[in-house]
Amino acid sequence: MEVIIRPTREDASWLVARIIERAVRSNPHIVLGLATGRTMERLYAMLAQLHKDEGLDFSLCQTFNLDEYVDLPPTDKNSYRFYMNQHLFSKVNIDFRNTYLPNGMAPDLEDECERYEARIQACGGIDLQLLGIGRSGHIGFNEPLSALQSRTRKKALTPLTIRENSTQFDNPLRMPKRAITMGVGTILECKRSVVLVTGKSKAAVLAKAVEGPITSMVTASALQLYPRCTVVVDQDAATELEGTEYYHWIFENEPEWEAYR
Ligand code: GLP
Repeated sequence: MEVIIRPTREDASWLVARIIERAVRSNPHIVLGLATGRTMERLYAMLAQLHKDEGLDFSLCQTFNLDEYVDLPPTDKNSYRFYMNQHLFSKVNIDFRNTYLPNGMAPDLEDECERYEARIQACGGIDLQLLGIGRSGHIGFNEPLSALQSRTRKKALTPLTIRENSTQFDNPLRMPKRAITMGVGTILECKRSVVLVTGKSKAAVLAKAVEGPITSMVTASALQLYPRCTVVVDQDAATELEGTEYYHWIFENEPEWEAYR
């Protein structure tokens, strides 16, 4: 794992946008794993800008989102399908038929989860997985106690996640209490992952995820098991990290980061 600290959330988001840009340009058929949440809105706006101003081409990409609420139709403005269409898919030249999210309206959710896993496999697996971290320490909706080998499945959301995310709903009581999420095991199979975390409210959970013990109580800590994980954070999110001097040194000195400095 490597941790990159940038001064502001704009800088952190730009760095992630540039990582994705390079990956897409070097492999136009890339399979991207995508995340939702407030943190990603700025990043998606940057990718849309790179498409518009610098011709970043998404036409051959395929995408798989991490999760979707159960019982929200794609037309509901709080569904993650709606979010993705609004913030990214409608702003770039991706073929909507190549954009996949779990279907939280499926009559048989277990079958839907199995089909989602099979679809990822059929596309050759995820090349680059984008991740955020929720206040409960989740990646996707892998809430505390999710097995670190879990696969795509239905998951009950914690009161903390419901409090955090229900502010996005006109009527917070309408927020679903369950979601379909890729499992921690599913996520760890991707070839590379990039985690974007910004803001003071994430400082404590980020420190647990990156520097704490690996535990199913903070599923983001499972990324420590993973060979190719880059965590990009802003100064606010980095305030509770202990190894910042080392992390800064890596970014300033290691040749692979030269193009991003
Ligand atoms: C949701 C998503 C997560 C995301 C998290 C962070 O809960 N399921 O994948 O990481 O939001 O959200 P925010 O960026 O709004 O803090």
